[in-house]
Amino acid sequence: MDKRKIVVTSALPYANGDIHIGHLVEYLQTDFWVRFQKMRGPDCTYVCADDTHGTPIMIRARKEGRAPEDLIAEMHARHSRDFADFQIAFDNYYSTNSPENKAFCEDIYAKLDRGGALLREKVAQLWCPQCGMFLPDRFVKGTCPHCGKEEQYGDSCEHCSATYSPSELKDAHCATCGCRALETRETEHILFDLAKFKEYLRAWLPDHTQADVANKLQEWFGEDQTLLPWDISRDAPYFGFEIPGYPGKYFYVWLDAPVGYLASLKNWCGRNGTTFEATWGDPATERYHFIGKDIVRFHCLFWPAMLHAAGYQGPSKVFVHGFLTVNGEKMSKSRGTFVSARTYLDHLDPAFLRYYYACKINNTTDDIDLNLDDFAQRVNSDLVGKITNLASRGAQMLGRKFDGRLGSLDDEGRALLAASRGRADAIAALYEARKFSQVPVEVCRLADAANEYFDRHAPWKAIKEDPESVRPVLTTVLNLFRQLAIYLAPILPGYAKKAAALFGEDGFTWESLGRTLENAPIGAYEYLATRVDPKAVEAMVEASKPPAPPAAEPGKYAGPQHGPSANPAAGEAAPAAQSGTDRAVGGHTCPPKAPIQIGAFDACDLRVGRVESCRPVEKSKKLVRFELDCGPLGHRTIFSGIRSAYPDPSVLDGKQVVFVANLAPREMKGVGVSEGMVLCAGDPATGLAVLAPLSPVAPGDPAT
Ligand code: 2FM
Ligand code: ZN
Repeated sequence: MDKRKIVVTSALPYANGDIHIGHLVEYLQTDFWVRFQKMRGPDCTYVCADDTHGTPIMIRARKEGRAPEDLIAEMHARHSRDFADFQIAFDNYYSTNSPENKAFCEDIYAKLDRGGALLREKVAQLWCPQCGMFLPDRFVKGTCPHCGKEEQYGDSCEHCSATYSPSELKDAHCATCGCRALETRETEHILFDLAKFKEYLRAWLPDHTQADVANKLQEWFGEDQTLLPWDISRDAPYFGFEIPGYPGKYFYVWLDAPVGYLASLKNWCGRNGTTFEATWGDPATERYHFIGKDIVRFHCLFWPAMLHAAGYQGPSKVFVHGFLTVNGEKMSKSRGTFVSARTYLDHLDPAFLRYYYACKINNTTDDIDLNLDDFAQRVNSDLVGKITNLASRGAQMLGRKFDGRLGSLDDEGRALLAASRGRADAIAALYEARKFSQVPVEVCRLADAANEYFDRHAPWKAIKEDPESVRPVLTTVLNLFRQLAIYLAPILPGYAKKAAALFGEDGFTWESLGRTLENAPIGAYEYLATRVDPKAVEAMVEASKPPAPPAAEPGKYAGPQHGPSANPAAGEAAPAAQSGTDRAVGGHTCPPKAPIQIGAFDACDLRVGRVESCRPVEKSKKLVRFELDCGPLGHRTIFSGIRSAYPDPSVLDGKQVVFVANLAPREMKGVGVSEGMVLCAGDPATGLAVLAPLSPVAPGDPAT
C-alpha cells in the first residue's frame, strides 16, 4: 500500500492575544494525533500560523503607537515560544501576513469572480468620525433595544440574548473612543454567494465532519431556507490585503485566515523539496482541520464552498472539539482560571497538562473540564504513582544491585509482555479515531498488571534470599514500562525521549514495540516525572488573577471588581475578549468626584517629561520603570502600575508623558523610590493609556 500522505492544521490563533490553556485543548490534541501518525510512518505535515489581520489588531497597534507588523512580529515570537515549550511540534508555524497568503487570496478571489460566485452590494454601516472608520458590530456598544440593558455589543445582548444590528442599539457609541455622534454611511461590499453552493454543501457535510456537527448544519439546508451571502470585504482603514481592483477595500480577516493554512503549507513545501500541488493539491492526500465548535460555520460552510468554487481540493475532514471549562465553569480572569500558557509553564511541567488533557479529550464536541484537584490527583496517582514508578523502582534496583544489566524474561514476564504488546492495535485504533481519553485507561490497566507482578514478586525481599531470581522480574518490569512509554509517546514526547534514553535508544517509533530488551545494559535512571505540587497549582491560579485595582478611598472609584470572563475559543471575539489590554472603554462610567477649588488643582505640579526608557520591573507583574528626562527638573525615576496595558513598555521610549512632579517621593517595596506619578487615562482595571501632549513640548514644561 502507498504511504499515506496527510496534511493537518489547527486553527490559527489571533495575533493579538497570548495562548491560554483553552487554546491548548486544540493544539495538544492535534499534536497527539500528528505525533502518532509520524510514529507510524505516514508522511504527515502539521502546519499552523498566526491569524494576523483585522480591526482589533489594527486598533491595538494604533493604541500602542506602533506598526501592526511590529505587533504581530512580537506576538509570533511569543506564540512560537509557548508552543515550543508545550512540545507542540508544528512542521511550520507561519503568518497570514505573508506573500504566499496574499497570492493565494488573490488567486482564489479571481477564480470566484470569474466563476460568478461574487456579488456586489451597497451596505449601510455605522461610521465613527473620531476614529475615521466603519465600525464592525463588536466595536459598537449601546443599550439593548429589547431589554434595555446598557453597554451591549452591536450584534447581540449578553443579558437577554437578543440579536440585532448595531443601528438598532439605543445610545450607540464607538467602543474604541466612546464617540456618540456615529453616522450611517453606505459603502459597497463584495459578498460570496453561498446559496449557489447549497446542494454541494448539503452533500458534502455528512462525510466531512462529525455527525452532530453535520446534523446541526443541515438545519440551514431546508427547502425554504436560503444561505445568505457572506460579506468578504472591509473598508480602509483595515490591516489586511487590499482587494485587487478595489483600492481602499480589503479581504475580511475570515477570508484570508483559512487561506493561511494553504500559505503555511506552501511555505513549508518550498523549504522541503516538495510543492503545494504534490501535497494539498494531490487528491490522494488526506487533509484534516482541527477546530473548536465556535468556528464551524467558517470551516464547514464558507471554506469548503470557496475552495470548491475556486477549483482547489477541500478538507477531507473537519474535526470539531468542545470548549474548556475549569472546575466546571467558564474560564474566568477574576477566579484566576483564565491561565495563559506562559503562566502555566512558570509553575508546572507541560507534561502534566498534556497527560491530563489526553485523559479528557475524545472525538466528540463535548466540552472538557480541567478540574484542578482531579488534575493533581490523576497525574500523581497514575502518571507518577503507577507508570513512572515502574521505571524508577525497576531501574534504580537494577542499577544498584545488578550493574544496570537486564537479564532474561521469565515465562510469566514473557506472557505479560505479549499481553501488553497485544494491545498495540487497539491503542493505535484509539489514537487514529482521536479517542485519546481511552489511551491512558489502557496504559493504566497495563501498568496495574505490571505493578501487581512486581509487588507479588517483592524483589526487595527476594533480593536478600536469592538475588538472581530478581533480575528477570526487573527485566520484565522494565520491558513493560518501555512499552507503556511507547504507547504514551504521542502524548508525552519529552517523557518518552527520556525513557528511550534509559534503554539506550534515540527515540521510539510504533515499531519499537516489537523489540524486547534482554541481557543488555540500561542507562542510569534519570528523573522522568515528579508529583504535582498542589501549592504550585494554587500559585498558578493566583498569578492568573488580574492585579487588584487600587484600594478605594471613600468617594474614590476603584474600578470594576471583576475582569472580563472569556470564552476560551471566542470566534470573532469582541475587543474585550481579544486581549487584556484591548478592552473597549466607551461604556465605562466613573462616578463624579466632589468639586474642588482651583487652589487644590493648582497645588499639583504637572510637567512634561521625555521617556528615556520604560522597562518592566523584574519580579513584578504590574510595575514598569520610567526613566524620565525632565529638562530643568533633571532626571526622574517613576514606577507605574501599567504593565498590563503595556506588555512591552519599551514602546513608550522616546515619547512625552505628563507626570505629577511634586508628589512626595515614595518607597516602592523592593524596587526603589518613585519620584512622581505618570498620568494615565482609561479603566484602571482593564486598560490604561499614558497621557501625552499632542505635539512635542520641551521636557520640564508645565502641563496646565
Ligand atoms: O477563532 C480564532 O481564533 C481564529 N483566529 C481562527 C482562525 S482559523 C482559520 F480559519 F484560520
Ligand atoms: Zn470611535
